[in-house]
Amino acid sequence: MRIFAIETSADETAAAIVEDGTKILSNIVASSMNLHEKTGGIIPEIAAREQIKYIIPVLEEAIERAIKLSSNLPTDRQGRVNNSNHSISQSLNILISNHIDAIAVTIGPGLIGSLLVGVETAKTIAFVTKKPIVPVNHVLAHIYANFLHFNNIYHHSEIQFPAIALVVSGGHTELFLMKSQNQLKWLGGTRDDAAGEAFDKTARLLGLGFPGGPAIAAEAAKYQISNIKYQKVKLPRPMMREDNLDFSFSGLKAAVMREINKLKSMNKWTNKTVMQFAFEIQEAITDVLVEKTLRAAKQYKVKSILLGGGVAANSRLHEKFSVLSSQFSVALHVPPAQLCTDNAAYIASFAYFNYKPIHWSQIQAQPSLSVEV
Ligand code: KG4
Ligand code: ZN
Repeated sequence: MRIFAIETSADETAAAIVEDGTKILSNIVASSMNLHEKTGGIIPEIAAREQIKYIIPVLEEAIERAIKLSSNLPTDRQGRVNNSNHSISQSLNILISNHIDAIAVTIGPGLIGSLLVGVETAKTIAFVTKKPIVPVNHVLAHIYANFLHFNNIYHHSEIQFPAIALVVSGGHTELFLMKSQNQLKWLGGTRDDAAGEAFDKTARLLGLGFPGGPAIAAEAAKYQISNIKYQKVKLPRPMMREDNLDFSFSGLKAAVMREINKLKSMNKWTNKTVMQFAFEIQEAITDVLVEKTLRAAKQYKVKSILLGGGVAANSRLHEKFSVLSSQFSVALHVPPAQLCTDNAAYIASFAYFNYKPIHWSQIQAQPSLSVEV
């Protein structure tokens, strides 16, 4: 079964075609991230306007790439299917009708302006082509990046259940128990800022770019290489020892701000201090994520841990998880970085394993869609 998925919950405009929930035939992502760098966070109005600009070219490219991969239709030098007798809309209609079995779309959670672009586009496609359409929860879908592969380039071993899934993105930090491929139970999550948000906000305090996660990871790596000793900064590990499966990261931002102000007032703020802070921020966030996830893994006696969401691209997080998961004989699964961050391939995979199509007229954008399933 081929599912054509659309994802527009924040600043990425994405479309993908995935076969049987696992094989990626195409996965196209356009991003307005560079437009949000100056403000250190996404500006919803700008993100929504960019979605409108990108949506048609992105879905057109996703369909054409998939068809090129799986058939011998003639294409031009840019890899586009040569269908010169038809307009773009006619070609899309014919191609979807002949090659796609269902549509999937992110309905939430996310930014309303951005979500509406994907949702209304997907509904229109479903209406015109009469294909079934599946509404998808973006946060739960992140987990399904673990089931994807591109031909033989990336192939994980079979995932054993029960599993604990940790979704760590810009807006969410959530733990789920996964009893099978389509049975998810929410166990706990952040009470305030998400892990990605903590990276983004503290990066802004340090004067680093947006998104903050990769910027902090890069500075932290420089610090590790430099091996220079200067006054140590120690940040809190919020809620790490508490006997629950919840998280809280807003205190970390406040602590970073306090420490920065203290050092600046003593004239001890240098470029090296930025590296040192970046290192300690990454240590604090990853310590808490690993500790709480392993607590859940032990509590539910699981066989696997699955990571998903943008922060799951963090290599220090992988390092810590792989050491501990091998100690506890739990298999660790981490999608490749480009599948951790927002894309539509995992939206298609979720829709395949949780195949519940509804009539297109019932599909609605839900910015505050709950993840507590
Ligand atoms: O899943 P995602 O692409 O979008 C949302 O659904 O939010 O996650 C974006 C988040 C941002 O907060 C970004 O700073 C973080 O993922 N991120 C990282 C890394 N790459 C992206 N955080 C830590 N280390 C990384 N390498
Ligand atoms: Zn996401």
